[in-house]
Amino acid sequence: MANLRKFITFEGGEGTGKSTQSELLAGRLRAYGYEVVTTREPGGSPTAEYLRDIILSGKAKQFGAFAETTLFSAARIDHLRETIEPALKRDSWVICDRFLDSTRAYQGALGNLDPRVLKALERVVIGDMMPGLTFVLDLPPEEGLRRAQTRARGAAPDRFESEEIDYHKALRKAFLDIASKEPDRIAVIDGEATADRIADQVWSEVTRRFGIDA
Ligand code: TMP
Repeated sequence: MANLRKFITFEGGEGTGKSTQSELLAGRLRAYGYEVVTTREPGGSPTAEYLRDIILSGKAKQFGAFAETTLFSAARIDHLRETIEPALKRDSWVICDRFLDSTRAYQGALGNLDPRVLKALERVVIGDMMPGLTFVLDLPPEEGLRRAQTRARGAAPDRFESEEIDYHKALRKAFLDIASKEPDRIAVIDGEATADRIADQVWSEVTRRFGIDA
């Protein structure tokens, strides 16, 4: 197998199908006999899940992008230490629904966080624990928000879902910009296709890049 870190992340706007695809990919890898940990951000460890509730409640929004980013960072440090790194050490795959590219897009591009601060935080929080492969699921935001609302079954939209449509359009562009800068790590997938078709594309990228005989 190719010497890529077995750490795969799914990124994109709201309702793009990241969690569905994380689970479908995990299922395919497990069918090959691999151990797989699926996790998410913000969250993925008890402390980080606690911070997730605070962030998504919108309580920290009033303090600005920097304060919110420090909360995401604190959650990520704990998540890496408690969940991701131990799993990778025992040779498990890790599939994570959102990771650093969400910080780059939401807090960096949309929150106008100083790029130098963003970079410094990445160095401190992630160090060299970069994903081996990242999928950006790309979808028109109108469709993504509609899916997110259907999924929420009447629950109020969270801190980020409740932003205006222009915000979500800019977010889509931000993810595509991020992907264009790192084509070796990031694959963009059309999120408008059916879940099965997307899963096939994801699988073919994973088998090709990691050298799995499919
Ligand atoms: P989700 O689990 O529904 O994707 O919700 C997580 C929300 O948090 C989503 O709106 C994106 C946002 N987020 C950031 O703004 N920055 C980050 O670094 C991460 C991981 C998520």
